[in-house]
Amino acid sequence: MRKILLTGCLGQIGTELTLHFRKEYGDENVVASNRTKKDFPEVIDGGPFELLDVLDANRLAEICNKYKIDTIVHLAAILSAVGEVKPQHAFNVNLNGLYNVLEVARENDMQVFTPSSIAAFGPSTPPDNTPQDTIQRPNTIYGVTKVAGELLCDYYYTRFGVDTRGVRLPGLISHEALPGGGTTDYAVHIYYDAIRYNRYESYIAAGTKMDMMYMPDCLKAFTLLLEANPDRLIHRNAFNIAAMSFAPEDMEKEIKKHLPDFELSYNVDPVRQAIADSWPNSMDDSCARDEWDWKPDYDLAAMTADMLKQLRIKLAK
Ligand code: NAD
Ligand code: SER
Repeated sequence: MRKILLTGCLGQIGTELTLHFRKEYGDENVVASNRTKKDFPEVIDGGPFELLDVLDANRLAEICNKYKIDTIVHLAAILSAVGEVKPQHAFNVNLNGLYNVLEVARENDMQVFTPSSIAAFGPSTPPDNTPQDTIQRPNTIYGVTKVAGELLCDYYYTRFGVDTRGVRLPGLISHEALPGGGTTDYAVHIYYDAIRYNRYESYIAAGTKMDMMYMPDCLKAFTLLLEANPDRLIHRNAFNIAAMSFAPEDMEKEIKKHLPDFELSYNVDPVRQAIADSWPNSMDDSCARDEWDWKPDYDLAAMTADMLKQLRIKLAK
């Protein structure tokens, strides 16, 4: 059975991925870690948990050794909007953190899985049906670190034989942990505000399409690619994966099917709007479909129905 270490496990993805992996691989085989503790008792108390700053290479090696880790799922990162506020910090965490993970994996023959993002593309990338292999000239620090991370993972595979794998994630929508300071966060907050106030003020302008995905599909993609037959993989890192592409007004239309009086207004944030404008409208994920049978389960309608159902329960508590 795999022995997995997750870094940055108390964020939007990690809080759910830890529990998903514990179901799949057994509680004791999944070690959760984060730089700080947060209020997620299920993750912290449901199996091994360690405080770990990914910039501390010695502690990372110590934890891997202590639990005989063979797979690192590296999630610790600074996302796009926070990255523009603290670019030096984003560079440090996103690149030096990944470097520490890859080095410990190289020294101990471990597998590494780490997500890239739609942010690895930029304004000169073809925006529609964005190909797997195309122009990548992002203009955010987050995007710069994501492209560099994709290349670094490829390098560790070809140069050292480290089994690196990863996906380019769209913006994620989920109802457990709130998103950690990205550009696509509006697509989560809109559901919370729909339930609480029956209205939402969007910082992203009407007509701005971005790729998005519901968390269950993200969890499924991680497991599928982690377990994929390596002989079938032509690409390894940074597979485009897509599920749905929409603009704020598409969400409004869908939410109104459940809450007819819901109102959407706009107060555009120029920083996050510029980031969104530089990202693809929709990615071509045919390589992921061909090489490891990727296929999403949720579209906007199915996700909206489930998000509203789950949040009604959560926010009533
Ligand atoms: P998040 O911001 O919600 O969580 C990141 C976690 O990392 C937080 O719990 C934070 O405390 C922790 N962290 C920050 N600095 C750390 C450090 N130095 N050492 C250890 N932990 C540290 O992020 P997320 O949404 O869960 O994203 C996880 C990964 O997925 C990131 O690589 C991100 O770029 C990628 N991704 C996320 C999305 C999305 O929409 N959520 C989309 C594309 C890619
Ligand atoms: N959701 C992420 C962000 O907006 C995309 O990587 O930063």
